[in-house]
Amino acid sequence: MVDRRPLIAGNWKMNFDHLRSIAFVQKLAWTLKDAKHSAAAVEVAVFPPFTDIRSVQTTIEADRLEFAFGGQDLSPFDSGAHTGDISGEFLAKLGCRYVIIGHSERRQDHHEDDALVTAKTLAAIKHGLVPVICVGETSEDLEKFGASAVPVGQLRTVLAELPKDADIVVAYEPVWAIGSGQAATPAQAQEVCAALRAVIAEVLGDDAAAATRVLYGGSVKSINIASFMREKDVDGALVGGASLDVEEFAKIVQFPKHVIA
Ligand code: 13P
Repeated sequence: MVDRRPLIAGNWKMNFDHLRSIAFVQKLAWTLKDAKHSAAAVEVAVFPPFTDIRSVQTTIEADRLEFAFGGQDLSPFDSGAHTGDISGEFLAKLGCRYVIIGHSERRQDHHEDDALVTAKTLAAIKHGLVPVICVGETSEDLEKFGASAVPVGQLRTVLAELPKDADIVVAYEPVWAIGSGQAATPAQAQEVCAALRAVIAEVLGDDAAAATRVLYGGSVKSINIASFMREKDVDGALVGGASLDVEEFAKIVQFPKHVIA
């Protein structure tokens, strides 16, 4: 049985300028230090806007903080005439470990489809970044097809193009649960995360399925995180709104200490 280290990831979306990002990371560090958080037990990652990454990197490296960080998107291309885009090479050079790909807000706002998500995932892997591949159904999908069909289909398309030894993270984020305050139930999250793991097994093999972390995202808060983490196939969370409040995010990171009724 592979031991999957839980990952609590904060997707800041388009929040915090670089000055606030420094203050946030420092405050998170001392809050977790005071709470005797063990980075070996739970990995913490933040996903700042591109303009903050250099500041976050220097803060983390100068003080040897045990946080990973990553970009919220990347270009499928390495370089060239792509105004406004950011290459995986640049993110890797800044020390990013991860990059979020295919978030539903990018799928909606920028019309990203599974083919583009696949190309971006390949670009991430090429540059040594771990892609956090986001999948999830809308409320219309949920009504028509149930919870698993759409996210499973989205993931299958991407996985089909990846090398078998690709190091990836998968995030199940039902679109209807994002920013709505209406999280999926732990049982719903477990059902879809298990289905996603089964697709990983089918396409990349059993070892990859056992090693890959599958996260849940969508209205995760300190009051519900422990109930998700109790589920066998949920290995962490991709947190939006609640990741912008240091105290709340630190509480989420410390989910192993929570007592659930
Ligand atoms: P919320 O936690 O604000 O629902 O956002 C989830 C999300 O989209 C993380 O990527």
